[in-house]
Amino acid sequence: MISRRAEGAVVIDFGAQYARLIARRAREAGVYSEIVPRNISAAALVADPPGAIILSGGPASVYSEDAYPIDPAILGLGIPVLGICYGHQLIAHQLGGMVTRTPAAEYGSTQVSRQAASLLLDGFPQEFRVWMSHGDAVSRPPPGFRVTAQSPGAPVAAMEDASRRLYGVQFHPEVIHTEHGQRMFAHFLTELADLPANWTGASIIEEAVEEVRARVGNARAICALSGGVDSAVAAAIVKLAIGDRLTCVFIDSGLLRENEANQVVETFGRVFPDLELVHVDASREFLERLAGVTGPEEKRKAVGATFIDVFERVAADVPDAKHLVQGTLYPDVIESGTADAARIKTHHNVGGLPSLLPFELVEPLRHLFKDEVRAIGRQLGVPAEILDRQPFPGPGLAVRIAGEVTRDRLAMLRAADAIIRREIEATGLTLWQVFGVLLADVRTVGVQGDARTFAHPLVVRAVTSQDAMTADWARLDHQLLANISQRITNEVAGVNRVLYDISSKPPATIEWE
Ligand code: XMP
Repeated sequence: MISRRAEGAVVIDFGAQYARLIARRAREAGVYSEIVPRNISAAALVADPPGAIILSGGPASVYSEDAYPIDPAILGLGIPVLGICYGHQLIAHQLGGMVTRTPAAEYGSTQVSRQAASLLLDGFPQEFRVWMSHGDAVSRPPPGFRVTAQSPGAPVAAMEDASRRLYGVQFHPEVIHTEHGQRMFAHFLTELADLPANWTGASIIEEAVEEVRARVGNARAICALSGGVDSAVAAAIVKLAIGDRLTCVFIDSGLLRENEANQVVETFGRVFPDLELVHVDASREFLERLAGVTGPEEKRKAVGATFIDVFERVAADVPDAKHLVQGTLYPDVIESGTADAARIKTHHNVGGLPSLLPFELVEPLRHLFKDEVRAIGRQLGVPAEILDRQPFPGPGLAVRIAGEVTRDRLAMLRAADAIIRREIEATGLTLWQVFGVLLADVRTVGVQGDARTFAHPLVVRAVTSQDAMTADWARLDHQLLANISQRITNEVAGVNRVLYDISSKPPATIEWE
C-alpha cells in the first residue's frame, strides 16, 4: 500500500494555530496533510517522504533567541517546499539571503504586486490583496531565488527557486482575507508538487473502514456513545467495518440536558436499528459521587472517575470485547504531542478512559478535523440532529452549576436551559453554544406576587466562535433576552433573577467551570 504521506503534504509547525489552518486548507484542496514538529530531521522525513512540505508561520523572529531553525538538509531533499511568513523568512535566512527588521511592521490587509514570472503565482493578477502580519521581512533573497512579488512593507513578498522547487511567501495564503489564497494551496500541491487530489469523503471512509477491519480482526469492539458528533461518527465507521461485532454503551450520568438521554437512545435506535446499544442509567451513582463536591476540577475528576467505574462494569459483561472505540480527533492528537500547551481545564470526554482499561484503542477519526468528521458523518447517514449538535462538555451540567450538584439543582438548570435553547431556536439563530448556568451558591432577593423571594440567579451564556479556542459573547437582541428572562423567572421555581454573560474568551472561558 502506498504511504498516505507520499500522496500528501507535511506542515512543519512553527505556531500551532497557523499550522492547523494550513493543514485544513491543504485538505480542502483534496490533499491529505499532517502536522509535524519543527525539530523533525531530514532523515525522519526521508524515511516516509511526503509529497510536499509547507513551513508554517509562527510568532518568532529568525534572529531571536527562541528562533527555531530547521534541519537545513530538508531544503535540499528535492521535495517541493512552500514557506509561509516565518517559513518564508527561514528559507531566506538558512539559504544565504537576508532578513531584517522592517521600519514599519505590516499587519492586516495590504496590496502586493507581481514582479517577475512565477510558477507559484501562475494565473494570479498583477496586483492582489493579501493578509500580512510581520515585523521582519526578507530584504535580499538567497542566491538562485527570484523575487516574484513585492508589497509596501515587504520588498520580497514572494520568491522562488523553481529549479530547487523552493517557494516562499511573506503573506498568509491560509487566511480568507488573502485573495486567491486557497487557489495557491491547490496549485502548489496538485500542480507544482504533482499530488493527487484524492482526500475526499468517500476515500476517508474507505480507508478508515479498512484500518478498523485490520485492527479488530474477528474480535469484538465496544464504543461509549456520548450523544455527541465524534463518538457517533466513530461508531458508524466501526459498525460499517465489523457489523454486529460492535456493542455501544450509553451511560446516562443524569448530568444531561432535558430529554437528552431519551433522544440519544431513540435516535440511535432509529438510524442504526441493528446496533447493539446498552443503555445504563447511572444517574444515582454520579450524584452520590458528586455529593459535597464544589470545586470545578474536583467535579470533573469525580465525573471522569465515575464514568470509568460504570464503563468498566458494563464492559466486563460484553464477552470478547478487546477493542475500545474512541472518537479522538486530529487536534487532540496534535495537542497531546505538544508539551508546552498550557492546561486550562481537565477536559473530559467519554474518552479520557483508555489507559486504565484492558482494551486496545481504535480511533478511526484520529486523522480528521471536526469539519471533516461532520462531512463524513453526513455521508454515513448520521442524522443532522446529532451532527449539528452544539459542543457539550463531558462532565455535563455538573460544570454548569456553580456549587454543589444536587438533583433539585439539576432539575432547575435543566428547565431553564431548555427555555433558553427553545427561545433561541425559534429565532433561527445559529450560535456556537447557548446554555444556562445556575449560580447555586448565590441567592438574591426578589419579589414574586406579593411575596419576597430569596432565590438563585441564572446566567444565560451565548457565544459565537470558530473553534472554541476564542469566543465572543453573542449580541443577542434585547427583546429576545427579555423573553428568556421572563419565561425563566415565571416558569422555573427557585430562580428569581436572570443575568446575561458579556464576557469573551479570553479572558473568560466558554463554560463557567
Ligand atoms: P472552555 O470552557 O474551555 O471550553 O472555553 C471550550 C469548549 O470545550 C467544551 N468543553 C468540553 N468538551 N469535555 C468536552 O468534550 C470537557 O470536559 C469540556 N469542557 C469544556 C466547551 O463546551 C466549549 O465548547
